[in-house]
Amino acid sequence: MPLDRFGRNINYLRISVIDHCNFRCVYCMPLDTSQYVPSSMLLSAEEIERVVMAAADVGFEKIRLTGGEPTLRADLVDIVERIARIDGIKDISMTTNGVLLPRLAKPLADGGLDRVNLHIDSLDPQRFAKVMRFGTLSEAWAGLEAAESAGLTPIKINAVVVRDHNEEDVVELARLTLGKPWTVRFIELMPLGDNDCARLAKDKFVSSADSMKRVEEALGTLTPIDNQDASDEAVNYRLPKGEGVVGFISPVSDPYCGTCNRMRLTADGRFHLCLLNDDEMDVRAALRGDDGDARVREILLNAVKAKPTGHRLHEGISTAERSMFQIGG
Ligand code: 5AD
Ligand code: SF4
Repeated sequence: MPLDRFGRNINYLRISVIDHCNFRCVYCMPLDTSQYVPSSMLLSAEEIERVVMAAADVGFEKIRLTGGEPTLRADLVDIVERIARIDGIKDISMTTNGVLLPRLAKPLADGGLDRVNLHIDSLDPQRFAKVMRFGTLSEAWAGLEAAESAGLTPIKINAVVVRDHNEEDVVELARLTLGKPWTVRFIELMPLGDNDCARLAKDKFVSSADSMKRVEEALGTLTPIDNQDASDEAVNYRLPKGEGVVGFISPVSDPYCGTCNRMRLTADGRFHLCLLNDDEMDVRAALRGDDGDARVREILLNAVKAKPTGHRLHEGISTAERSMFQIGG
């Protein structure tokens, strides 16, 4: 079990496989982004596989593929197949905008992907486009249906709540859980990087308490779910007669750093120690050098030991170097 200095069991690796995205949500990817990781610096499928083997060796059990948008990676199915073959990995999931899932859901499920989280910030086509910019609701919805038919379940929908954009839409999104066994989770905006997205995140913040109040006023009292998994970053509820789950992720108003079980790997091969800090450790050089996989394991364990206690958003400190699309949430 990889325990960090604070006794947290770090067993969940989030792997950003690419930093491109076809959406550019207002809170994630600035419109003027033009610098991407050059392909020679992206970890290859084989290098990702070696990192996951090292991770499994030291006790990691859960893997999530993120981006940018992971489905833009041409060899994504190969990556999933390689990870699925590794002993000790019990759960492989992916966070996606869903647009390419009508084509990819089945091959990914066949390759060993267990489930997906989709981000859908509004069920209103105009407001969806206002937040998610280059995406359309109909495409994202087709992706959700493809994921469900392929068995990439339980389906989770993530919505980031943005004032003046979609704060009213929490009601219709939460309503989905009345008729479906889905989990719909509302995420508080986090400022990352030094760019327009970070400025918007500070400006347009809506607390989970406000979103929860909106949902309850429209749809009735939310009842907390017992036996929550301690490392689940969401606090989960059910609506009266709800089939699915309504969750609130509150990194800003109610930080959950104390139960964080995550390590992150960036697309260019660096362990990113905590979402909201800049600390990183390079592993690409070791993967491409002569030291072998023992060195990869050692770097990963050092990264776990160096994980900060938590974020310092309350002191106005966040990442300066990386934006959300470069870390993958
Ligand atoms: N604040 C909160 N959540 C964000 N996401 C992207 N950018 C931000 C932000 N600034 C979410 C996406 C996706 C996940 C990877 O992170 O909606 O669900
Ligand atoms: Fe792309 Fe997801 Fe970022 Fe939106 S949140 S720009 S879909 S990576």
